[in-house]
Amino acid sequence: MYTQLEQRGMTEPPINVSTLQKMKHAGQPIACITAYDASYAALVDTAGADLVLVGDSLGMVIQGHDTTIPVTVDDIIYHSKTVSRGLRRAFLVADMPFMSYTKPHIALDNAVRLMQEGGAMMVKLEGGDDQVEIVEHLARHDIPVCAHLGLKPQSVHKIGGFKVQGRDPDKAREMLASAKRLQDAGADIVLLECVPNEAGKIIAEALEVPVIGIGAGPDVDGQILVLYDLLGITQGRTPKFVKNFQVGCHSPLAALQAYVSEVKDGSYPGPEHCFS
Ligand code: KIV
Repeated sequence: MYTQLEQRGMTEPPINVSTLQKMKHAGQPIACITAYDASYAALVDTAGADLVLVGDSLGMVIQGHDTTIPVTVDDIIYHSKTVSRGLRRAFLVADMPFMSYTKPHIALDNAVRLMQEGGAMMVKLEGGDDQVEIVEHLARHDIPVCAHLGLKPQSVHKIGGFKVQGRDPDKAREMLASAKRLQDAGADIVLLECVPNEAGKIIAEALEVPVIGIGAGPDVDGQILVLYDLLGITQGRTPKFVKNFQVGCHSPLAALQAYVSEVKDGSYPGPEHCFS
């Protein structure tokens, strides 16, 4: 009955939520990368990424917008479908775009579309305590959820720019409390963006579920980067946590393999990629 899912000509079985959970508890870093099409998805998978995210960052790196806000559910479904065709082993997560999870029933309808039409195995949504009810509703319907805390790019106009979050100790404590509530509500992964190392460490230690960081320091359970940032395609100023892995590599695959290997051996992120 599970043949199609489990046998894709791979020596290793496909990653699932329990693999990720086991990796956390075994202290094996989880390497994650965004992807937006089948060709790059296949490269990312071949490079050994454990988790691939069809992020709403596609609004910026694919569509050329200044923010992720214009991205729609149909956009994510289109890209998720293409990515799912390129993957064999990696676990596929799709972003819920801006205003696609304002009410529990709306979130459920859109999450179901991302899974049924887009092929996603988990959905990611931005938010803290305000999203506990939504996460609970999705979890009750067996939809795996990743909760995105710290810098929430969909709130960029509300917070006044892409800024480090949780530097103030009270804010860091609030973030920790929200992360625990989201976990208790059923979140299977917490993603932390742009927070000081200390906040990343405390939250990863306090949670049972894997904590994936992007600009959250070395002491979380895994790392994620936007594909075009790590391949050095993104033009102009990039965030401090970005490392261009294409430098010194002869091909995009070699750059992706270098990223996965540096995440796995703990050499990425280095101190120059971290916030204090
Ligand atoms: O949309 C995205 O690519 C993301 C990453 C920055 C984690 O959410």
